[in-house]
Formats: sequence, structure tokens, C-alpha cells
Amino acid sequence: MMEKYSVFDCTILELDRHHSDRKGNLSVVENGVNLPFDVKRVYYIYDVPGGESRGAHAHKALEQLIVAASGSFTVTLDDGIHKRNVFLNRPYQGLYVKPGMWRDLADFSSGAVAMVLASEAYQKEDYIRDYNDFLKYKKNH
Ligand code: TYD
Repeated sequence: MMEKYSVFDCTILELDRHHSDRKGNLSVVENGVNLPFDVKRVYYIYDVPGGESRGAHAHKALEQLIVAASGSFTVTLDDGIHKRNVFLNRPYQGLYVKPGMWRDLADFSSGAVAMVLASEAYQKEDYIRDYNDFLKYKKNH
């Protein structure tokens, strides 16, 4: 059986900020260096109309790092027992999301870009998209 994680196991990873005088900043995410998993896929969510939310699903095995590459939004994590809101608005911070978390992304600012680094390829079977199914799943996992 897969290890059971709580929302409190989902931490903010602080990325290095390489500052170049008068030329801005650069942050790095590198497999095996500052990330607890290897990245297989990157996707990003953008142009989200005000008031809309994304996510509303859980993953059985997938791990993710969610970064507000631009702008801001709030991630709500739910492990079936506890809920936690995490506000992301810094490109040098990433929210590390463990498997088995229901997540909602909401309150996107204008111009927000949610960049997601994922540990696996896209697999429909890894998704739980019904909240009641999620609660049932969490009772057994
Ligand atoms: P969806 O999972 O609904 O996005 P979110 O949960 O973040 O709001 O995905 C939106 C669409 O994009 C859906 O048709 C599936 C497709 N998609 C891919 O084809 N590949 C991917 O890696 C992801 C994440 C989504």
C-alpha cells in the first residue's frame, strides 16, 4: 500500500534566486538536486478568467511541484481529513504536492501562470475526479 500523506507533508520548497545586477533573477529546479522527485512532464495553466478555478482532482501516485511563475493564486490541499490553503505568489517558491491530495487552484490574479512539474507522464488512470470517490479512496489508502 502506498504511504499515506497529510496536507502537512506538502511543503514549500525555497528555490535559489540567482540575482544579476539590474538584469533580474533566475531560479533553478533540477532533478536530484533540489527536488524530491524526477520531472517527467511540465505543464502550465494561464489565461484563467477571474473567478474560475482549476484542479478539482487528486492523483493516486503523481507528485508535483506547483510554482506561481507569474502572478498569484491559492492552492487548497485536502487529504480527506485536513484542508490547507497555500497562497503562491513568488517564482522562487514551489509547493511540493504529495500523492493522494485533492487540490483546487483558485483566485488567479490577472496574468498568473501556474507552472506544474510532474513526476509522471499524463495518465488518466492516475486521476480521481469525483470528490466522494476520493474520500472512499482515502479510507483504503
Ligand atoms: P485538467 O486536468 O482538467 O486541468 P486542471 O485540472 O489543472 O484544471 O486538464 C485540462 C485538459 O488538458 C484536459 O483535456 C486534459 C489535458 N491535459 C493533457 O492532455 N495533458 C496533461 O499533461 C494535462 C495536465 C492535461
